[in-house]
Amino acid sequence: MSSFCFNRDSIKNNKQKEDDDTMTMVNGYEQSDREKHIKVVDLESLEAEAQKIIPTGAFGYISGGSEDEWTLRQNRKSFTHKQIYPRVLTDVEKPEISTNFMGIDLKTPIMMPPLAAQGLANSQSEKDTARAFAAAGGLMALSTYGSATIADFAKAGNGAPQFFQPYMSKNDDFNKSLLDEAKRNGMKAIILTADSTLGGYREADVINNFQFPIPMANLEKLSQGAGKGQGIAAIYAAAAQKIGPDEIKKIADYTDLPVIVKGIQNPVDAELAIDAGAAAIYVSNHGGRQLNGGPGSFDVLPEIAVAVAKRVPIIFDSGIRHGSDVFKALATGADLVAIGRPFVYALALGGQLGVEDALAEINREFQIVMQLAGTQTIEDVKNTKLADLS
Ligand SMILES: Cc1cc2nc3c(=O)[nH]c(=O)nc-3n(C[C@H](O)[C@H](O)[C@H](O)COP(=O)(O)O)c2cc1C
Repeated sequence: MSSFCFNRDSIKNNKQKEDDDTMTMVNGYEQSDREKHIKVVDLESLEAEAQKIIPTGAFGYISGGSEDEWTLRQNRKSFTHKQIYPRVLTDVEKPEISTNFMGIDLKTPIMMPPLAAQGLANSQSEKDTARAFAAAGGLMALSTYGSATIADFAKAGNGAPQFFQPYMSKNDDFNKSLLDEAKRNGMKAIILTADSTLGGYREADVINNFQFPIPMANLEKLSQGAGKGQGIAAIYAAAAQKIGPDEIKKIADYTDLPVIVKGIQNPVDAELAIDAGAAAIYVSNHGGRQLNGGPGSFDVLPEIAVAVAKRVPIIFDSGIRHGSDVFKALATGADLVAIGRPFVYALALGGQLGVEDALAEINREFQIVMQLAGTQTIEDVKNTKLADLS
């Protein structure tokens, strides 16, 4: 039984009034209830729209990076360091974006990464995001710090491929119960996020004194304290602050599931992870939210891809916003890409339908780029050589 009494009052959103919009007050937090199609010009423009309806503290938590956000900005800038050669006379028509990742057939190479607390964006939280990705034949991962339980997430996915990302706690019983729950609910792989043994210094959260107004369902269920009314530092205080290569084998042995190591930004760590049995490498700097002063994530992808040398597949994220970014990442060694914040903004603006619209738009953009670059399939994209004329 939930230890929280939800104080739900339907109210009119006083930030941006639209006739068909309702917002709901939960624990004093104005939560979007929107379920409608949205117009998506591109993923970048969703941020300004979402800012109009997401309360200030939560918007700062979602959009922000660490310290002065230099690395966050580099994530975008790094995509300008490589270019795509236009190709003509290639006989390409209607490029095909379906792919296979670790034996899983997908209709798009774009996945939803593990991303905490989606209840900040919409009352249906990760459940709506899961429904949208399932409807589009895409892959989604759930964070331990999500607003939905693993069971509800799996139910919403309705058989679609899903991964789970445990935040390893200092309490091993808690870790085991999380992994048991992931396995019981059919998660196809475990993503070990290794870059977050504590939270990066995110100034927006300090300025806004941000505390999570919505409980973290898995923490609540498995009695680690519920996350509600806590800041990010308090949440991470229960997390394991030492993660080494042994953790990979331990999780793989315990779950008998493939373990993907997330947060790799250095070929040395890629080697360590593969030697320890990682089934895939997830190149990410957490969307510029952890170590500030590091390179843009796309800038480190080439050397990591060389080190990995196709021994295991690669997922890439941090800063992807356009079809051309997706193309560049796949052409640089990624097998799958993830996009974080824009889908959360789409979730706030339109719930499941909003996320579907955002995913359809970036798929469409990517297909246009594929056509103009003369590539028919994802394999063709992966075999494309980018220009380096900057
Ligand atoms: C609000 C927010 C919460 C996040 N929570 C998690 C998390 O719980 N676990 C995790 O591995 N990564 C988390 N991430 C990082 C994402 O998985 C992903 O790496 C990042 O969003 C990609 O960058 P992008 O937002 O620029 O696309 C979070 C990111 C954001 C923006």
